[in-house]
Amino acid sequence: MKNTLQPKLRQRGRASVDFLAHMFHGTTRVRQGVQEELNSRFGEGADLPDDLDERHKAVTGVLSGEPGYRVQQTIGEWHSRQHGLIAMDAFEELKPDVTELLARYDEGPSRLVAEEGFEVPDYFDGVEIHRTRGGWDGHPYMGFVHGEIVHKHIVDATYPGGIFTQRSMVAGLAPKDSYDRILEMGCSTGHFTHALAETYPDAEIIGVDVSIRTLEHALRTGNACGYRWQLYLRAAEDTGFDDESFDLVTSYILLHELPADAIRASFAEAYRLLRPGGDLLMSDVARYAHLNKVQEWQADQLARYGGEPFWRESASLDLVAALKNAGFEEVEGRALGNQGYPYPYVVTARKPA
Ligand SMILES: C[S@@+](CC[C@H](N)C(=O)[O-])C[C@H]1O[C@@H](n2cnc3c(N)ncnc32)[C@H](O)[C@@H]1O
Repeated sequence: MKNTLQPKLRQRGRASVDFLAHMFHGTTRVRQGVQEELNSRFGEGADLPDDLDERHKAVTGVLSGEPGYRVQQTIGEWHSRQHGLIAMDAFEELKPDVTELLARYDEGPSRLVAEEGFEVPDYFDGVEIHRTRGGWDGHPYMGFVHGEIVHKHIVDATYPGGIFTQRSMVAGLAPKDSYDRILEMGCSTGHFTHALAETYPDAEIIGVDVSIRTLEHALRTGNACGYRWQLYLRAAEDTGFDDESFDLVTSYILLHELPADAIRASFAEAYRLLRPGGDLLMSDVARYAHLNKVQEWQADQLARYGGEPFWRESASLDLVAALKNAGFEEVEGRALGNQGYPYPYVVTARKPA
């Protein structure tokens, strides 16, 4: 169903946001040059240190003399710091038109439950994830700013193959053709929720997230599309739902935002929530174990610049082993591959019948 919450950006905001996307494409050759330099100096990195921090020192020690690398770093740093602020400015320009439209969709068939006394997990509190000013809840309309402006105008425009296309593809990877009751962990502004709703039109869809601002936007999106989503301000590892009350538990790019212990706790929670024979489907970033030492350094470097404090420990975790430890069977991890890179990494698992 069409999402009607996508008003056109005004001229200045659109130009600034488009500039960010085009700058990425316009600097492709710089990145290619750095890649060639990396390949010629380090190959697959067999001689580089095992320890990632030591490796970082070794690689940057060599590359910092290269003009292309310095340009890439400067642009990367500027982009990381500025993209959220530029999107917030684009929102301010639009605010007089858009707030009334958004308020119209606070009511509708979807609902949002935010119980009093909810406490965000310690690892989430005060963390400026993605270097977003104030974190996911740092702006009264962060759901719109991130979900509509950053995500649709910048992320999707620079993502190999398109991130919305990837969400739809992943939603279709659950083992069965239909489900009655689906839980999405880390549903954020509802982009993957939307893909689930389109793929499983008869399912009851419940989403949890620890960010109220993103959930508010998911609510409006659900209402604007006429969906009956039930959204809860709750943590993936402690959802409060009844035992054996879902037949699919799923997430899309949640796990890299969680420390390893919270991932294990979320798997245990998914196991508790699933009916016997129920399925788990989760998609996330490339596993470090699938990357050579140079690729692993690159992923880690990108995570560091991108404000991803738990990426390293999350991407280093063996998700297949963690799911087996949680009691799941038929556990399968697949690096689906995107332009030769082992991403997205999708795990499926079943609770024994
Ligand atoms: C990258 S976003 C996920 C996006 C979403 N699934 C999509 O497709 O756009 C990660 C989300 O996970 C949420 N999150 C982080 N820790 C969480 C937790 N412990 N439980 C539930 N959600 C969490 C964040 O608030 C954020 O909205």
